Amino acid sequence: MDLYQQYPILLHINGQERRFEVESWVTLLDLLRERAALTGTKKGCDHGQCGACTVLVDGRRINSCLTLAVMQDGRAVTTVEGLAQGEQLHPLQQAFIERDAFQCGYCTPGQLCSAAGLINEGQAKTRDDVRELMSGNLCRCGAYPQIAQAVVDVMGIRDDRDGKEPFTTGPVLA
Ligand code: FES
Ligand code: FES
Repeated sequence: MDLYQQYPILLHINGQERRFEVESWVTLLDLLRERAALTGTKKGCDHGQCGACTVLVDGRRINSCLTLAVMQDGRAVTTVEGLAQGEQLHPLQQAFIERDAFQCGYCTPGQLCSAAGLINEGQAKTRDDVRELMSGNLCRCGAYPQIAQAVVDVMGIRDDRDGKEPFTTGPVLA
């Protein structure tokens, strides 16, 4: 068996049709970063534990380190580079700026794509729901309260903090 045999795949990445010849063992994350030159998507753990590599596939959020590129043949992939419309930031990007929802920024592309997927899922009704449903995205800088607030802002959902947890104070695990 030739481990380096390449397979042709077609992906629709951020609205563009892209063709690749790729070995069967290449993850979607590595294809995006190393072969599509889309380095906005980050590699944190490479084991499905941190969420830094989150992208949208056909509108659903996935950890791109946990899927092989060949498995996504024919699908539409949206990375953080595809969220804005030209010069117009995605509402989540704007809210992250307004709520100061990042420090080093390493987790931010994954947080943004995860939040976009969360909105598509339509499950979150409260701020606590947002925290729970974003819990797969870790932030070593501890910007969780601000991240949750930015998502709550965009979703326009009920804020159930009830005055007990000001979002501007220390890190709170999501
Ligand atoms: S790099 Fe994929 S979950 Fe951490
Ligand atoms: S902003 Fe630094 S890891 Fe989240």
